[in-house]
Amino acid sequence: MSLLKRGNFLSFVISLAIALWCVSIGWSFTQALETSPILLAQSQTSSRPRTEVGKELYVSTCSGCHIPIPPEVLPTETWQELLEKPNKHYGTSIPNFIRLSQVLIWDYLKTSSRSILIKDAPIPFYIEQSQYFKILHPRVEFTEPITHKSCLICHPGVKEFDYRTLTPEWQDAP
Ligand code: HEC
Ligand code: HEC
Repeated sequence: MSLLKRGNFLSFVISLAIALWCVSIGWSFTQALETSPILLAQSQTSSRPRTEVGKELYVSTCSGCHIPIPPEVLPTETWQELLEKPNKHYGTSIPNFIRLSQVLIWDYLKTSSRSILIKDAPIPFYIEQSQYFKILHPRVEFTEPITHKSCLICHPGVKEFDYRTLTPEWQDAP
């Protein structure tokens, strides 16, 4: 819970900083508009939504040791626990995990996942234990153990964080 509260406070500080910054950019921007196409391009990238930034940070931070896992296969509670305990990560620890990344990644993960399906059920720490993983795979009957290592068998785009594209067998299956 502490992450949520501090997250809100930090969101506020960050939004305020961004707002002030936008005002100052806007001011010089109107002056430079006719002369500087580079400035125009920069101001467009700076107005990207925060969850986009969070997504990029998620992929770069969380795919160093394994594939980037799609947020929707696990409940929000799992992501919260994982982000709050970067030093107790399945027997290892997540390096260089700074506070700002934590907050921005949390923004992305909480908007891209749902709350645990059965209230008070134990939080799943493995994809295999997750109800959402099963719900996302109505056609598939898994015979082998499900881990982050097996996604590639049917999802050739996992390295690019693409879980839409399927191998031809699945793509064309009824
Ligand atoms: C330093 C390496 C490292 C980094 C960086 C890392 N992880 Fe992990 N992660 C692991 C290891 C090791 C496991 C256990 C894998 C296993 O049991 O096969 C794991 C497992 C997982 C699992 C369970 C996968 C499954 O098969 O069910 C999730 C979810 C997960 N990590 C999320 C994250 C998130 C979120 C981040 C970024 C904040 C992250 N990881 C960054 C090393 C890392
Ligand atoms: C045996 C093949 C197979 C394996 C292994 C597999 N998937 Fe899938 N996945 C599918 C199929 C097929 C679909 C489309 C839904 C359906 O037909 O059941 C799908 C759909 C999905 C979707 C929804 C994609 C969308 O349309 O937005 C996600 C997310 C996903 N899989 C994640 C994973 C992850 C993460 C893993 C590894 C832990 C994994 N899958 C392992 C076959 C597989």
